[in-house]
Amino acid sequence: MTKALLQMNDVVAGYEKGLPIVRGVSFTASGGEIVAIFGPNGAGKSTFIKAAAGLMPVSNGSMLLNGRDITQMPAHLRARAGLAYVPQLHNVFATLTVLDHLKIGAALLPPEARTAQIDASLTLFPDLARQRQTLAGRLSGGQRQLLSIARAVLTQPAVLLLDEPSAGLSPRMVEQVFAQLVKIRDEGIAIVLVEQHVQAALAIAERAYVFVEGEIAYDGPAAALRNKSTLAALYLSHAHRPAATTGVP
Ligand SMILES: Nc1ncnc2c1ncn2[C@@H]1O[C@H](COP(=O)(O)OP(=O)(O)O)[C@@H](O)[C@H]1O
Ligand SMILES: [Mg+2]
Repeated sequence: MTKALLQMNDVVAGYEKGLPIVRGVSFTASGGEIVAIFGPNGAGKSTFIKAAAGLMPVSNGSMLLNGRDITQMPAHLRARAGLAYVPQLHNVFATLTVLDHLKIGAALLPPEARTAQIDASLTLFPDLARQRQTLAGRLSGGQRQLLSIARAVLTQPAVLLLDEPSAGLSPRMVEQVFAQLVKIRDEGIAIVLVEQHVQAALAIAERAYVFVEGEIAYDGPAAALRNKSTLAALYLSHAHRPAATTGVP
């Protein structure tokens, strides 16, 4: 592990003024580590990731990318500065080939670097290399997910934000996607991984955060969450706060 590439301090974010969804979250991710984010539905995980990507209004707190303040930086400039985001519902274009997608991703790079970076990406994703001329519409769900990830890492980001990349995939495909994430991590990229496949994610993550009702209920080693009852207790933790149980008999 190296220094924190992404650092979020006391971030408050939400869709409407006065209705914060993410409520004072501090978070770090360093090069060469996978940081998992777990939490019940509606806990604010996607909102947090969107805030990191620059797609949410942030009403408090600060964000640093590799030491540089990006709190006010718009999403497209964050992408250029080394922050890659793969949204929960990712878009691949059905009528474009795998290679076309990689070329689009490479357009962010200087022209002389593009071919080499596409080749490197195909080496990292042999499954896609075999299908470089295949239309994305003909790929399986898992292969499309790999393509979204490949396109995101093509720009050699410092930080890769992934919102539930394994959603809807078979267990075998989940394994394949996660195996790719391990390779990407080993290149020194900081990976932030929101996941519902908790046990599979714990097997590859170094650290984890648990979000409950927009706040952090756990922040520490991933290994400490392998005991299922520990995680279950965390998910319920905020439900026992007086404020949340008002009116419940
Ligand atoms: N586009 C939106 N506009 C308003 N509220 C939203 C929007 N998206 C999500 N929310 C609300 O924000 C809260 C957190 O949602 P989200 O960040 O998607 O949670 P998670 O990803 O942890 O399931 C939920 O209460 C949800 O209803
Ligand atoms: Mg979500």
